[in-house]
Amino acid sequence: MKYKSILFPAITASLLLFSCNNDSSTSTTETTEKEEMTPKYVNDPHSYAEPNEAIVKHLNWTAMVDFENKQILGTANWDIETSKKATKIVFDVYGLTVNSVNVDGKEAAFTIGEFDEELGSPLSITIEAGAKMVSIDYKTGDQAKALQWLDPSQTAGKEIPFLFTQSQAILARTWIPCQDGPGVRYTYNAEVTVPKGMLALMSADNPQKKNETGVYSFKMEQPIPSYLMALSAGDIIFKAISERTGVYAEPSVLAKAVYEFEDLENMVQAAEGLYGKYAWDRYDIIVLPPSFPFGGMENPRLTFATPTILAGDHSLVSLVAHELAHSWSGNLVTNSTWDDFWLNEGFTVYFEHRIMEALYGRDYSEMLASLSKDGLMHEAHSMLQHVPNDTKLKLDLTGRNPDDGLTSIPYDKGYFFLRNIEEEVGREKFDVFLKNYFENFKFQVMDTERFLEYLKTNLLVDGQADSLKIDTWVYEKGIPANIPEVKSDRFALVDTELEGFLNSGDLPATETTDKWTTHEWLHFINHLPEAIDLSKLAQLDAAYGFTASGNSEISAAWFQPTIRNSYEPVYAKVEDFLINVGRRKFLTPTYKALIESGKKEMAQSIYEKARPNYHAVARDTMDELLKS
Ligand code: BES
Ligand code: ZN
Repeated sequence: MKYKSILFPAITASLLLFSCNNDSSTSTTETTEKEEMTPKYVNDPHSYAEPNEAIVKHLNWTAMVDFENKQILGTANWDIETSKKATKIVFDVYGLTVNSVNVDGKEAAFTIGEFDEELGSPLSITIEAGAKMVSIDYKTGDQAKALQWLDPSQTAGKEIPFLFTQSQAILARTWIPCQDGPGVRYTYNAEVTVPKGMLALMSADNPQKKNETGVYSFKMEQPIPSYLMALSAGDIIFKAISERTGVYAEPSVLAKAVYEFEDLENMVQAAEGLYGKYAWDRYDIIVLPPSFPFGGMENPRLTFATPTILAGDHSLVSLVAHELAHSWSGNLVTNSTWDDFWLNEGFTVYFEHRIMEALYGRDYSEMLASLSKDGLMHEAHSMLQHVPNDTKLKLDLTGRNPDDGLTSIPYDKGYFFLRNIEEEVGREKFDVFLKNYFENFKFQVMDTERFLEYLKTNLLVDGQADSLKIDTWVYEKGIPANIPEVKSDRFALVDTELEGFLNSGDLPATETTDKWTTHEWLHFINHLPEAIDLSKLAQLDAAYGFTASGNSEISAAWFQPTIRNSYEPVYAKVEDFLINVGRRKFLTPTYKALIESGKKEMAQSIYEKARPNYHAVARDTMDELLKS
């Protein structure tokens, strides 16, 4: 099967709907006269590539992972297609040293353009129209921001170093010369050499066992954008959960991970029941060391996950549902540029909640929705003061780091936008619509305008776009007044108990709290008043052991009222947590709480110790936050 990208620019809705173009049978490298005149690929402000002139189709990657020098030595052999008038092919590179370039077997001229701090440089290679293969021999630089090289002391086993990558949004170019925009898809094969005793894994068909040689082969047969390129190497072992799902982790972490994810197969089945067959064959998860800067990353076939979701009671597995959901929203139907990021994340949060509802019931998923709404209202409020334009669903990230778009807007405003539509048209219709959407646009990109057109043509009836305030949601700042109500009886009970405690000092009855899950506790902690007596914090701590909690979400939530009210018994835990956990979602609010409550020096002194443990993307954010 051959996959084809979406036409650009705007084409009529009917064409959009039915030009399910992923089976064009010709495989000529030259395009027709007519196509030649209409650029197929959008201009991506975060990539130097010019895919309308020459585009990659398949990668054969050979690499040696050198832990001693903390670099990757690689050869990227790209099969390409060119337009009739092509004279060059442009790749994105960031800090790569390019040793030599061949085009169809002959040495070719190349230039590396000016370096930009966010974007890196264009690598421009001279070609002739009709050129078939470009081979780039290179090594990574010191500033390879996607890569985190961990010393043995930063791993669970403490004996063998570890490497993982994080390519999204625009960091794939720091370890592979590539056309690094979400609109360019390609298949890949790889042969990766790692030190003996290590297992290497990619976003591909993966080995399940170490071998003697340290050389591993990979194949990704479905076309993916470069931000889904991923590699991990270390003392990693595997255990199956079902025929097609399983878990990778360091040996001492594996059993806990297998227990935590025992519902994995059920999740995949629930997801398939909602929106169609899983397209990527296997679904595995690797649990990484705690410095992984995100909760999870939807690398195809192999989700990368933080160990901070191993709570021991399955309570944080919605993150797995989220990354799994990306196998449809994001990995199949991909945001056209990072300005349309909400199409990846908003759909994924919606889908995540639906998976959780299918498995654990509506009262469970309504707790998730309520937490999401609280977080959204809180963040939107502050963003409206500082970065009001970033509260629109459709972003404008030109000239900025796409990381700036990583707020609860694309996630939770995106979620509530979709939920609003679901509630208006009814779930049955909405589900049919979404299933067709994924099927019609699989292996293609989507942008906001085309999605809205598709929505209006295929789901909404006259007047509904207006009554739903579609354009207000997408193109205006803030949170529209018609945001759906979330009805959580379980949280209503928590509210009653919290009120009782704050008014009378009486703790809720044990029979009540015995039934509470992590989510109820999060709601309880998040709703403590901003200023609260130390005696009340101490009373809660004595009763529920929040400071000593092993649940990362509860810890991070508890740090807020305690730090802000200078509850000293929590300080040692805060320090320990910040040094050991590199998940940015926890770091940012915790350091902010320290700074905003007059403890910047304490924050800086902790950061000095913690910084070496953080991945570059977390470091960049914290450097900014903590600068003097
Ligand atoms: N794809 C994102 C992570 C990401 C986004 C990394 C943009 C870099 C740039 C991933 O699916 C995600 O959303 N992770 C969340 C988890 C989630 C349950 C909301 C996270 O890491 O917290
Ligand atoms: Zn996501």
